[in-house]
Amino acid sequence: MTIANAVAMAHRLLVDKLAAARTVVDATAGNGHDTLFLAANTPADATVWAFDRQQTALDNTARLLAANGLGGKCRLIAGCHSRLGEHITGLVDAAMFNLGYLPGGDHGFTTCAATTVAALGGITGLLAPGGIVTVVAYPGHPAGETENAAVADYLARLPQADFTVAAWRMLNQRNRPPILYIIGRTGRETA
Ligand SMILES: C[S@@+](CC[C@H](N)C(=O)[O-])C[C@H]1O[C@@H](n2cnc3c(N)ncnc32)[C@H](O)[C@@H]1O
Repeated sequence: MTIANAVAMAHRLLVDKLAAARTVVDATAGNGHDTLFLAANTPADATVWAFDRQQTALDNTARLLAANGLGGKCRLIAGCHSRLGEHITGLVDAAMFNLGYLPGGDHGFTTCAATTVAALGGITGLLAPGGIVTVVAYPGHPAGETENAAVADYLARLPQADFTVAAWRMLNQRNRPPILYIIGRTGRETA
């Protein structure tokens, strides 16, 4: 196995789970690469919820999905992922958070600690038994460092009886490389 970057590692950890998933979430749609990954690896009748606060990001995501013929199973929501519970119906099998700013967009517009932690509270509350959430955090920029600390603090406090939480990072890269957090909901899987 080749050691990949944090986002590619997240994809590897999720792909088996996606094969039988019904409801999955991309909490940060961005340019749509993760939404496309989720849509391409879930059954035809699955629903992919994708959130972003920037219309440019949702436009880019919609274009990428359409180019791959996968727009029909995706629900693109313009708004903050801290309010994802107002949109998603049913339990969530898998979710991705790829934090930070839109590549190629405004680097001043990033995810931030308070809303990210609120969104993590929302998604863990909706996570099905056996469900998985991945979070890629970017401590290499000042806002990302604060956000990463808040995410790590929040995840470390999740009750061990209900969740398994792990972290993965490169040890020999310069400039504070991204960190991948993996959250698993314990309990028997349905379906
Ligand atoms: C690193 S990008 C995501 C990359 C994306 N998953 C992809 O595959 O291209 C982070 C995205 O989070 C979005 N974002 C920032 N704050 C947000 C919030 N509170 N709720 C939802 N999206 C947010 C940004 O607009 C940006 O597009």
